[in-house]
Amino acid sequence: KKITIAIDGFSSTGKSTLAKQIANHLGYVYVDTGAMYRAVALFAMQNGYITSEFFDKDSLINSLPYIKLQFKFNDALGFGEMYLNDVNVETEIRTIEVSSFVSKVAEISEVRSKLVEQQKEMGKDKGIVMDGRDIGTVVFPEAELKIFMTSSATTRAQRRYDELVAKGDNVTFEEVFKNVEERDYIDTHRADSPLVMAEDAIEIDNSHLDREEQFQLVLEIVID
Ligand code: C5P
Repeated sequence: KKITIAIDGFSSTGKSTLAKQIANHLGYVYVDTGAMYRAVALFAMQNGYITSEFFDKDSLINSLPYIKLQFKFNDALGFGEMYLNDVNVETEIRTIEVSSFVSKVAEISEVRSKLVEQQKEMGKDKGIVMDGRDIGTVVFPEAELKIFMTSSATTRAQRRYDELVAKGDNVTFEEVFKNVEERDYIDTHRADSPLVMAEDAIEIDNSHLDREEQFQLVLEIVID
């Protein structure tokens, strides 16, 4: 019988890597909700609603009906890529610039309710692995399996830094570390659905577990 798997946790805890691996193994659909918030942040940047100096929240809120978000499955990659108004933005949404604005965009209740509604719709058929910050608490409080991933800010910043450097991004470790800490702060302190572990979630601290160990741990739980 197919179930719903909710994976939440802080930035760069390896949520998406684990979620993808589980989804592929079980033949489930994988949904990266962070990509959706990132696409909305990109939209706000493209329209000049958000810069390092100001944030015109009202214009973004008024534009929400014109923001179309879709995942289109890429066979070669084995997961759905993010499309913003029919344009593939999978690469653009991963830049440090988008990362620096995304948590501010994700604080807005109107943004959250639009995305949460879409996420609930995507998961209504079960057989889904969804990762984010509020999946086990808000999107699928009834999920059969909830996982909460943690690891130290340094470990996480190092992971994100390595990824960005591998892609050829020109960033410093300090910049990435600061961004990870800033996002943790905003994500845990926002008024609307702050990042908290669901009471019935299983916590995985992956500072001490490698990818394969995390995967095996989750599979054992799923099979039980
Ligand atoms: O998972 P990722 O790091 O790509 O998410 C980017 C940002 O989007 C997070 O830092 C958080 O502010 C926001 N987010 C959220 N709720 C989710 C997923 C992401 O607020 N379910």
